[in-house]
Amino acid sequence: MGGRSVQRVAFSAEEIAARVAAMGAEIADHYPRGEPLLVLGLLKGSFIFVADLVREIDLPLHVDFLVASSYGNGTTSSGDVRLVYDPEAELAGRHVLLVEDIIDSGSTINRLMPLLERRGPLSLELCALLHKRICPPLVKEARWVGFDAPPEFLVGYGLDHAENFRHLPYIASL
Ligand code: PRP
Repeated sequence: MGGRSVQRVAFSAEEIAARVAAMGAEIADHYPRGEPLLVLGLLKGSFIFVADLVREIDLPLHVDFLVASSYGNGTTSSGDVRLVYDPEAELAGRHVLLVEDIIDSGSTINRLMPLLERRGPLSLELCALLHKRICPPLVKEARWVGFDAPPEFLVGYGLDHAENFRHLPYIASL
């Protein structure tokens, strides 16, 4: 696919499902029932993770998505980020859970979190399926992390290489 083939399965579909179920239960325990919860998926990489995660959160909730551009020099944490697709949902007065597939350099999160914070959510937390643990401390660390990621290029379960491999039910290295 795209001239590349996967080398090694890093996390199987079964391992992912078990971890996502555990995270969903932890998230459901964390939020007070009866207060508005918005799960906000960062596209495109999180689309499968969000779909599976929300089905494991036994709370009333809303789902929306956003797409952030990666323009700029990519090395600063200025909070300067452009939303290519801005969620229709109002963030003010709601618990917002941002869902990311992978934290690599941390640049996306460092830019996005201050922007979302300025919209006045009741709370703002981050849930990442994978964390490479290679970046300096984030402006706000993820409260929930699925797996520490190995130092390899990972694809599958939403993650891509040149848009390929997103559909794989497992996570593999290239
Ligand atoms: C990837 C991934 C994260 C981000 C992580 O997105 O989905 O959003 O990079 O990297 P960082 O911590 O170094 O910022 P990408 O821009 O490839 O878009 P995609 O989600 O559409 O694949």
